Amino acid sequence: MDSTTRAEESTAALAAGEGAAEIAVSVRSLSKTYGDGYAVHDLSFEVPRGEIFGFIGPNGAGKTTTLRILATLLEPTAGEVLVEGRCVVNETEEVRRRIGYMPDRFGVYDGVTVEEYLEFFAGAYRLPRGRRAAVIKDVLDLTDLGALRDRMVSSLSMGMKQRLCLAKTLVHDPSLLILDEPASALDARARIEMRVLLKELRRMGKTIIISSHILTELSDLCTSVAIIEKGELVVSGSMDLLQERKWGTDRVKITLHEPRPGVEEALVEIPAVELVSIEENVVVFDYAGAPGEFYKVLKALTDREVPVVSVEHDSRNLENLFLRLTKGDVQ
Ligand SMILES: Nc1ncnc2c1ncn2[C@@H]1O[C@H](COP(=O)(O)OP(=O)(O)O)[C@@H](O)[C@H]1O
Ligand SMILES: [Mg+2]
Repeated sequence: MDSTTRAEESTAALAAGEGAAEIAVSVRSLSKTYGDGYAVHDLSFEVPRGEIFGFIGPNGAGKTTTLRILATLLEPTAGEVLVEGRCVVNETEEVRRRIGYMPDRFGVYDGVTVEEYLEFFAGAYRLPRGRRAAVIKDVLDLTDLGALRDRMVSSLSMGMKQRLCLAKTLVHDPSLLILDEPASALDARARIEMRVLLKELRRMGKTIIISSHILTELSDLCTSVAIIEKGELVVSGSMDLLQERKWGTDRVKITLHEPRPGVEEALVEIPAVELVSIEENVVVFDYAGAPGEFYKVLKALTDREVPVVSVEHDSRNLENLFLRLTKGDVQ
């Protein structure tokens, strides 16, 4: 065997190996234009298997466009999207079998009962007739709609209709759920029920992508996130990593009455202080310590009689980042 063949073999093995199997969705340099404007521009992120993945951005950021491409309903202008290793453009059927997509504006037929509605979709997904009753019972139980199976869809509350729509997307047992702003039309109680249901679906081994224009709605539900703005990625990664390591620091700016020697030496001795830069009478650094211990920074300076005039904090946690992005137009 020559070396080229071995190299090719090991590349193939890598692609089919554990690393690839752990990724549910891979978005690579995705762009979508409408007319001459970009709705999504050079967007790349990955969704690991088994995550509840928050896809977050202000209105018009490109969430629906991206999710519709993932769901094979819209073709990308450029770039590549793989769902469990299958291309959304060339392997449409393979991808559709694996996903359940709930659009932002869902309609449910009003003139049928809950059970008839699900029977219709079980048929549309070509479930074998012998299995349909059992599958419908399972999804009704899961979405807590069992007691309502004979009710007319038209008589359901908004929250119930939403759960019915989710039940419909579960009929073919997809491994990936794509939910576009599922909480936007729900009252507080229905939102809580939705969260419980999503956690249960995750326990069953499903990967869930859920979009929202409200970060706080998702921050304690999601295990990882991508934040987009104007069609471009701002940040993505696991929630723990983003909250604690990357964005859990404050940028601090201290202004002095006049420049003083020894300020940098005093600051670098404090473990929570990083990336000190001093220009004339302005001192800037990252503070990653507990808020209650910030006085230690000031004490180190005042002990040396450094003439501090003002201290400004710019908190770089996710919520602040998001508020800056949306300039206060959402919660
Ligand atoms: N069918 C369309 N034709 C033209 N522009 C569109 C169309 N759909 C979306 N857009 C534009 O693309 C951008 C992204 O929209 P969208 O993906 O719906 O964002 P989001 O779901 O984050 O609110 C917006 O500027 C929107 O106006
Ligand atoms: Mg949208």
